[in-house]
Amino acid sequence: MKSLTCVILAAGEGKRMKSAYGKVSHALAGRPIISYVVEAARALEPERIAVVVGHDAERVKKAAGEGVDFVLQEEQRGTGHAVMQARPLFERAGGDLLLLSGDVPLITAETLTMLRETHRASGAVCTLLTAVLKNPTGYGRVLRRANGKPHKIVEEKDADRFQKAVEEINSGSYLFDIPSLLGVLDRLSPENRQREFYLTDAIELLAAGGGIVEAVRTEDPGEVLGINSRDDLARMEGLLQRRIQKAHMRNGVTIVDPGSTYIEASVSIGRDTIIRPFSVLSGPARVGVGCRIGPFSHIRAGTILEDGAEIGNFVEVKASTIGSGAKALHLSYLGDAAVGKGANIGAGTVTANYDGREKHRTEIGDGAFIGSGTTLVAPVKVGDGAVTGAGSVVLRGRDVPAGGVVAGVPAKPIRRGKRGND
Ligand code: UD1
Ligand code: CA
Repeated sequence: MKSLTCVILAAGEGKRMKSAYGKVSHALAGRPIISYVVEAARALEPERIAVVVGHDAERVKKAAGEGVDFVLQEEQRGTGHAVMQARPLFERAGGDLLLLSGDVPLITAETLTMLRETHRASGAVCTLLTAVLKNPTGYGRVLRRANGKPHKIVEEKDADRFQKAVEEINSGSYLFDIPSLLGVLDRLSPENRQREFYLTDAIELLAAGGGIVEAVRTEDPGEVLGINSRDDLARMEGLLQRRIQKAHMRNGVTIVDPGSTYIEASVSIGRDTIIRPFSVLSGPARVGVGCRIGPFSHIRAGTILEDGAEIGNFVEVKASTIGSGAKALHLSYLGDAAVGKGANIGAGTVTANYDGREKHRTEIGDGAFIGSGTTLVAPVKVGDGAVTGAGSVVLRGRDVPAGGVVAGVPAKPIRRGKRGND
């Protein structure tokens, strides 16, 4: 098989975001925008993935994650210029170049695979991914010849009114035959309204040189939408939520009200779990089989709910493991805690995990019964089957032994039924 190299463009400033941070480092469903593009590219198993960075480079590099190479484009002089900077990374590779935009996050591995199949089957020098949009404003328009083959992309700012009427847009995702691209890359020039080197001009040059240019049109316009503004970011959150939630539902999760539920990308959920309205699940988190969440629950990063655990209204769980069948149904904060199997966490229980400097852990044993309004000042352990009375404040280090019963402020042991024997 022909070799494949991937280059992702992510050096631009993204002016319309009005942000101090690189555009593609902004979060989408809890993960950086660019991480979705890297993930989709990785599915095609390219020999290498190179990300072109420039504006806010350090943050964008972190956002792109491990296992990719970086190329610095110091001045952002256009998409063509960005590819020229990456040239040393692919010019000797031969084969194909998969070129993606870091700001188009919903592109899927399936679509990229289709793009590659068409590209290879047709022997094209370039295959572009396009879509027909009701509102194509802002995108480059795809111009086709009488025989239907694309031969030119004209940017919005350079388009006349006939060209602006074209609804088929360039998604900014392409496959290029590397030797053919190298043959035209030096001939790009910034003679356009934006004074930039447009990568899209390479397509016109290739077509004019007699090469075959193909296009694959995706039916799901969401896949090609770029993020250029906060408005786009919000719209993309909506599209991605629908995609994430549908995947969970396909796997057997009940989501009672998808519209009021928010689930980040790196959350896994087991089948027969029911999520009631107004719940937020941030990742990374793992929810087991047959759990119940909500209404109004907040599951945060680092949480593991074991099978059959139940989290109810106004309960926030952070970096905690909740054992199978354990319940915390009302008004609680569980942070940096390990809760044993079948434990019952009463209404209003709070793990006081932060002393102003450091976070500390709370351990609650299997079958423990934590009375309503208990404050557990971490680090502290409550043993298996132990009980805390309503309103107890269990101080740090004052561990409650297995089967023990404590109550009061500060909580002290009580020997039930043996009063006066001391
Ligand atoms: C580009 C395409 C347009 C297409 C649209 C799809 C060109 C000339 N135009 O336009 O046809 O419809 O994408 O979303 O290619 N970048 C760099 N260095 C630069 C400039 C840009 O790395 O010097 C990166 C950006 O960070 C971004 C991507 O390239 O991730 C696209 O750049 P952007 O300026 O957003 O291009 P568009 O105007 O959207
Ligand atoms: Ca863009």
